[in-house]
Amino acid sequence: MTVTPVMCDVWWAEPALADRGLLELLDDRERERHARFRLAADRDRYAVAHALARLAVAREAGCAPRDVVFGFRCPACERRPDPRPKPHGKPRPEGAARGLEISISHSGGRVVLALTRGVPVGVDVEGVSADRDIDGLIAYALTGSERAALEELPAHERVPGFFGYWARKEALLKATGEGLSGGLAAVAVTSPAAPAAVVSWESPDAPGHVQLTDLDAGPGYRAALAALTPAPVTVVPRDGAALLRER
Ligand SMILES: CC(C)(COP(=O)(O)OP(=O)(O)OC[C@H]1O[C@@H](n2cnc3c(N)ncnc32)[C@H](O)[C@@H]1OP(=O)(O)O)[C@@H](O)C(=O)NCCC(=O)NCCS
Ligand SMILES: [Zn+2]
Repeated sequence: MTVTPVMCDVWWAEPALADRGLLELLDDRERERHARFRLAADRDRYAVAHALARLAVAREAGCAPRDVVFGFRCPACERRPDPRPKPHGKPRPEGAARGLEISISHSGGRVVLALTRGVPVGVDVEGVSADRDIDGLIAYALTGSERAALEELPAHERVPGFFGYWARKEALLKATGEGLSGGLAAVAVTSPAAPAAVVSWESPDAPGHVQLTDLDAGPGYRAALAALTPAPVTVVPRDGAALLRER
């Protein structure tokens, strides 16, 4: 029996594509959030990511970008008797676009949006930077065996390797909607030197099936995609810059 692969569109763009016109695609909540960023770089990443999400979802659903409605889900709050009242967590298309699943990530000069039909996805892109407190981040995010595997890499591969680990783990936590509160160290993945796969996952939200794959985000970046499905996943890289220009 042949298993039909799940198609996952991965739209790439960059914050330099931001312009005032993009804000017209956003809803009031997004525009308010956009206006609250102090740094222009954060505003631009946000505007491009959310315009891209609306354009890609609208294209797939056959509706206008402004008619796309995003709901939010937080699995931790769904279990709580007193969930936080303000909507938060993983964005999920509703209305005309119901049934589509997305994940958004932005870092440095990269904006990425993953989109499937009906399969929960998580995407994460990370700029590789030695300026951060790498030892502190390693202690926070990696399991004992992941730390040991990182130590075995040649010195120049350790910092990029760490961000490879981070992207894989965060993509998984974004696929389930837990986000970082799910605990990066709760999920163990293979070494950056090996093909991406989950080794173990201690969480009430750990899925039965998951496909994890690295994405090519270009030099100086590490990125990964997680899809909660037993089926193989075909990644279809797409030109988000062209989509933004065509709007
Ligand atoms: C959301 C989170 C994973 C983002 O990580 P990051 O590396 O800073 O940012 P990224 O660019 O990779 O991803 C950001 C996008 O993830 C999405 N996102 C937010 N919460 C999410 C969640 N729980 N699951 C999946 N995706 C989420 C949003 O689309 C967000 O984009 P936006 O900020 O432009 O709206 C992380 O900040 C987080 O987990 N925060 C919330 C933790 C928390 O307290 N949760 C419990 C609430 S009760
Ligand atoms: Zn919550």
